Amino acid sequence: MRALVTGAAGFIGSHLSEALSQAGHQVRGVDAFTDYYDVAIKRRNALEAGRSNGVEILEADLLTCDLEALLDGVDVVYHQAGQPGVRLSWAEGFERYNAANVLATQRLLEAVRVSGVRRLVYASSSSVYGNAAVYPTPESALPAPHSPYGVTKLAGEHLCNLYAANWGVSTVALRYFTVFGPRQRPDMAMHRFIDAAMNGGTLCLYGDGEQVRDFTFVADVVAANLAAGEADVAPGTVVNVAGGGSVSVNGLLALLEELVEGKLDVQRLPDQPGDVRATGGTIARAAEQLHWHPQVDVATGLARQLEWQRAAQLVPAELTSTS
Ligand code: NAD
Ligand code: UGA
Repeated sequence: MRALVTGAAGFIGSHLSEALSQAGHQVRGVDAFTDYYDVAIKRRNALEAGRSNGVEILEADLLTCDLEALLDGVDVVYHQAGQPGVRLSWAEGFERYNAANVLATQRLLEAVRVSGVRRLVYASSSSVYGNAAVYPTPESALPAPHSPYGVTKLAGEHLCNLYAANWGVSTVALRYFTVFGPRQRPDMAMHRFIDAAMNGGTLCLYGDGEQVRDFTFVADVVAANLAAGEADVAPGTVVNVAGGGSVSVNGLLALLEELVEGKLDVQRLPDQPGDVRATGGTIARAAEQLHWHPQVDVATGLARQLEWQRAAQLVPAELTSTS
């Protein structure tokens, strides 16, 4: 099988590229190396993923590149490219969310429609639910995003569904819930908290810390993608990919204090606009349709991320990346 992974230099895309190659597939990766966070980190991700047999990563922007050439010979597209992060999607920030999450997805779907691609897996998000009426939230709940980011991820998902309905494009949207583990983006809570714990710095806690997240380990998200690429499911299928261990941010800080055997220095800041009170997804559909079950709980995954951040700090990204 030949796979195209978009966003292959990112947190999730780089792990997915490696896993696909380890499963014996040919992997073409593409990434625009946007500057949302330090590009040296993405270069390092790409370098590490590129070490796996059969992985080649191209630098190109889905908004402008020749998609026909990119899709040539590709069987399955894993569309991970996007502009992530809830809190910066307001005001003038919205333009890049719209471009990366809506326009690029529509352009890709148009190209996939007339290609030989047999499946497109789309990285959707728990943020499509907003402050849900029911927890854990099933896929059938009416989406009601609470941030501009969530609106763009839902728009991307709707685009997948309508290319499925009108053109028979075989799309599967996976709604990931706050993903963590090695290579986690440096703007995310766990990465920042671990950084502060390692370096004796102050961490910022937004709100009262009682907000809950259904943290999902990156290897589990990768496994869901591998399953979604092959599963015998209807075009336009939507599936939650949730770790199953809803933990509050205060609970996460307590776990980290246990791990590092020390007290964290916490600065309290106001709630952030767009942040939801809780996320939590039902995973019955993932079990039934993808035969997928999360394997790594929050405490185990947190320890793995801590180990990775310790090692990464010893060899900073600027020293390992190619440019
Ligand atoms: P990431 O920022 O590490 O990876 C995304 C990659 O996409 C980046 O390397 C970026 O350079 C690339 N990209 C952006 N626009 C592009 C374009 N126009 N053309 C080509 N490449 C482009 O983010 P991540 O955390 O790995 O997230 C991957 C996907 O999963 C995103 O679509 C995100 O919305 C979604 N998601 C992530 C989480 C999470 O908790 N990390 C949760 C839900 C959904
Ligand atoms: C994460 C990702 O960043 C999004 O890209 C993704 O789409 C989303 O998950 C999802 O599940 O759909 P978020 O849950 O906000 O979004 O992830 P974190 O940045 O890890 O934040 C978790 C919680 O910690 C939030 O309540 C946030 O306000 C809080 N936080 C974050 C802090 O208290 N301090 C920080 O420094 C960062």
